[in-house]
Amino acid sequence: MDISTTYLGLPLRSPLVVGACGPLTENLSNLRQIEDAGAGAIVLHSLFEEQLHKDRFELDYYLTQGTESYGEALTYFPQRPLFHVSAEAYLEHIQTAKQQLDIPIIASLNGTTTDGWADYAKQIESAGADALELNFYAVPTDVSMTAAQIEQAYLDIVHSVTHSVDLPIAVKLSPYFTNLANFVHSLSQAGINGLVLFNRFYQPDIDIDTLEVYPHVLLSTSQDLRLPLRWIAILYGTIPVDFAATGGIHHAEDVIKLLMAGADVTMMVSALLNHGIDHLRTVDQELRKWLQDHEYSSLSQLKGSMSQINCPDPSAFERAQYIKSLQSYRPQQLSIHLAP
Ligand SMILES: Cc1cc2nc3c(=O)[nH]c(=O)nc-3n(C[C@H](O)[C@H](O)[C@H](O)COP(=O)(O)O)c2cc1C
Repeated sequence: MDISTTYLGLPLRSPLVVGACGPLTENLSNLRQIEDAGAGAIVLHSLFEEQLHKDRFELDYYLTQGTESYGEALTYFPQRPLFHVSAEAYLEHIQTAKQQLDIPIIASLNGTTTDGWADYAKQIESAGADALELNFYAVPTDVSMTAAQIEQAYLDIVHSVTHSVDLPIAVKLSPYFTNLANFVHSLSQAGINGLVLFNRFYQPDIDIDTLEVYPHVLLSTSQDLRLPLRWIAILYGTIPVDFAATGGIHHAEDVIKLLMAGADVTMMVSALLNHGIDHLRTVDQELRKWLQDHEYSSLSQLKGSMSQINCPDPSAFERAQYIKSLQSYRPQQLSIHLAP
């Protein structure tokens, strides 16, 4: 069974890609295990903008001082050292991974301002990475900043990177754009090769006994894949970029749904943190079995088959599905009386 695919112009033996995640990709023996388990490619954990300009950023201030300005909160951010790898170590990690592994290695830069991206993209290219993922992880809170200004800032970064390197570029985005379809169209015109949908925001929680605010990384479940599923199905065929799905991919069934929606690759993190890297083998076997049982001979037969490419008005379709799903809901408790 041929499960090969292409992503960002790279031929991959499998659509199963390991997504950016320090605990999975910082360690070389994990990378080897990921390759042995059949992954098509690996996205390394991010190099954060704050690591590149440590001295200029106020991160330390917010890590250590922020709490005192709020009467009742003791901590707003984690107390443990945030970065245990330097930018230099990150570049070395790429070099070593490229020497020791055969599958493509995708580096990740994570930030929000225009400074320095192009320089580090060049260094990442020199270190031998096969592609670069740009992660715009930002929660805008400035009331004077418009959505257009934020989008332009991201486009400026993309322009500066795409003009500086020959590497294929993917952008990892949040779903929170007023018109996501318009913005990703602009990103595509700026020269990106792929979209990674979507970033998950890690909302902090409040401990009401200790009055502490603490970061709470909740691992995903398969329910979470509905968001990338829906958007990849909407965007597939509308812009000339590849699609990587991230968020909620745990089983072969999840992978199949996303491929049908139009994904070129599916990235896994939570599932591997929960079950270990060898879980990739299970998903790989189940994917091959399903394709065989359903008489597919390659992934290309499946790709995009359930997208909205033939839907004349996806927005109207979405609204109709929304109304239909609300109206089809039936309460479990029989004591609730439904209107006739
Ligand atoms: C512990 C942890 C570390 C992560 N580190 C990064 C990172 O360095 N860069 C990044 O772009 N995403 C990072 N992510 C997000 C994942 O790449 C992924 O997009 C997200 O977890 C959703 O996929 P999942 O449902 O398979 O977990 C991290 C996620 C987790 C749980």
